[in-house]
Amino acid sequence: MNKRLNINVSDRNAAEARGSGENKKKNRGTSSVLRRILSYALRHKAMLFSGLFLVICGTALSLIAPILTGRAIDYAVPGNTDVTMIGRYCVGIAAFIAASGAAVWSGNLLLNKLAFSTIRDIRKELFGKLLTLPLARIEKHSRGDLMTRMSAFGENLSDGLYQGIMQLSAGAVTLIATLVCMFTLNWAVATVVVCLTPVSALISAKIAKRNRTTFKVQSENMARMSGMSEEYLSGTRVLRAYGKVSDSEKSFAEINKELFKSGLSSQFAGACVNPVSRIVNNVVYAVVAIVGGIFIVASANGGWAVSIGAVLTIGELSAFLSYANQFAKPFNDMTSVTAELQTAASAGRKIFELIDGKDEDKGGALTVKSPVGDIEFDRVAFSYTDKPFMEDITFAARQGQKIALVGTTGSGKTTVINLIMRFYDITGGKLTFDDTDVDEFSRVSVRRAFGMVLQDTWLFGGTIRENIAYGKPDATDEEIARAAAAAHLDKFVSTLEKGYDTIISGDGEELSEGQKQLIAIARVFLTSPEMLILDEATASVDGLTERAVQSAFAELLGGKTSFIVAHRLSTIRDSDLIVVMDKGHIIEKGTHDELVALGGYYCEMLKAAE
Ligand SMILES: Nc1ncnc2c1ncn2[C@@H]1O[C@H](COP(=O)(O)OP(=O)(O)O)[C@@H](O)[C@H]1O
Ligand SMILES: [Mg+2]
Repeated sequence: MNKRLNINVSDRNAAEARGSGENKKKNRGTSSVLRRILSYALRHKAMLFSGLFLVICGTALSLIAPILTGRAIDYAVPGNTDVTMIGRYCVGIAAFIAASGAAVWSGNLLLNKLAFSTIRDIRKELFGKLLTLPLARIEKHSRGDLMTRMSAFGENLSDGLYQGIMQLSAGAVTLIATLVCMFTLNWAVATVVVCLTPVSALISAKIAKRNRTTFKVQSENMARMSGMSEEYLSGTRVLRAYGKVSDSEKSFAEINKELFKSGLSSQFAGACVNPVSRIVNNVVYAVVAIVGGIFIVASANGGWAVSIGAVLTIGELSAFLSYANQFAKPFNDMTSVTAELQTAASAGRKIFELIDGKDEDKGGALTVKSPVGDIEFDRVAFSYTDKPFMEDITFAARQGQKIALVGTTGSGKTTVINLIMRFYDITGGKLTFDDTDVDEFSRVSVRRAFGMVLQDTWLFGGTIRENIAYGKPDATDEEIARAAAAAHLDKFVSTLEKGYDTIISGDGEELSEGQKQLIAIARVFLTSPEMLILDEATASVDGLTERAVQSAFAELLGGKTSFIVAHRLSTIRDSDLIVVMDKGHIIEKGTHDELVALGGYYCEMLKAAE
């Protein structure tokens, strides 16, 4: 419920600040989502290209070391020993390794920064979007779902982007450079390595796939487990009150057992990856060593290796052995990169789906001039879903009138408010402000025209003072104190050590529902708007405080148009019009006296309240 309010209130500021939202084509395919993520990364061209350049250079530099090592070894062979040359090569090797390390490290840093900057941009866009999407679109998702898209999916996306760019570029360079180096050294042995590598890569891919499947089962169980923990922890009071502790223990134990089983098999599959790929790599290594050995022998005797142009020295074989190891690496990495990219793409798809949603339209070009003379509902119909809900709503609020909406929970009172505020659009009939269709007014101006205290109070992380001054940030201390006094909040604030400077958290968890409502009420008193909407504004406040606040409200409301939803009927007795609702329909309307005289539903409600 709270989520809806968060958006409503923020709407006022955000709706104007943003440009018109374009509805880009929906991208469904993995590659098009990845291309789109890349297009965000391309906004930071300097970072992207210098990072890529450094990683590519660093990787290429590291591949020169085996050749130098090989040369050094050849100077250590008996009969051809040259200590000075060995020394020179050692210095060279050290220099190349240092340069390569520095380049890869700084390239890494830049690409990491790129990933963070990209996800920062995307998150910013997503957050802006959440403030401007139509409520109907937002309310389709649970709060948890939206938060996951904002945080966890963002993380997946930036991880995928970083890994993708990093591994793919380094892998491509390693592959090409090792191929070039190996074929330059000895075409015949190089061919052997190239033929063997696909075998090892294939085996690694197979194990990785199995590993992924078991891991997926494990994470599904993990998600079930945390979902259940959250459910039980948030309802722990109810759970204990109903004596259901042992039931929940049982179902928890079941999930826990499954998690244990899937965890074990995933651990086993994971543990297999390393040894198996190591064995495969070692076999490749051994084969290259044997083939290389044969070539060395064939070269030394001026044998067939010379005639086919494939002479090999001991040093060159050592270079080959390192290349054979590195050559397989990009293939082995490919499976994890693909998985990472797929995760990023599916996260991206979820995020872009929201970003691409059509913004709430701005409404008409007219601006509401507050106070409005007449607000008229004329046979208005509306429904949240395909099922008809609200029908034939007809009533009028003249300027300065106090209109009360009463009825059972779910009868549609808040919905009427939502329609007045244009959070939702009517689907039938007419809703007019001074004989002009509400569609013709901009949504922002409609919302501006009203001050409101809603059923769920929305506070933000900040001081109590800032929370009260939300609608009038430049209010003086005196004005704030006066508004707080009118809302009967001052007594509570005076008990706080830091008074109005007390910091409250985003959800205002340290305050009672009633205290939160009083802050929201003080907010309205501060801006003193010409028209007011109070939707169960004092529902969580105690009866005594409520009565006091009501008398302050009476003063505030004096001569102003107001819509009041209240479940305590005593507070709306003096209304100019009482609209009694049931299941989306108006069943009675009139003044208190008229409705009492009618002796219908309202009368019953009055009796029930006694
Ligand atoms: N965002 C929504 N999406 C779908 N149905 C909704 C939504 N908001 C309210 N409803 C449904 O509309 C009906 C009226 O709700 P509401 O106007 O909030 O009642 P109340 O009179 O208690 O304020 C209820 O049945 C409620 O479940
Ligand atoms: Mg309601």
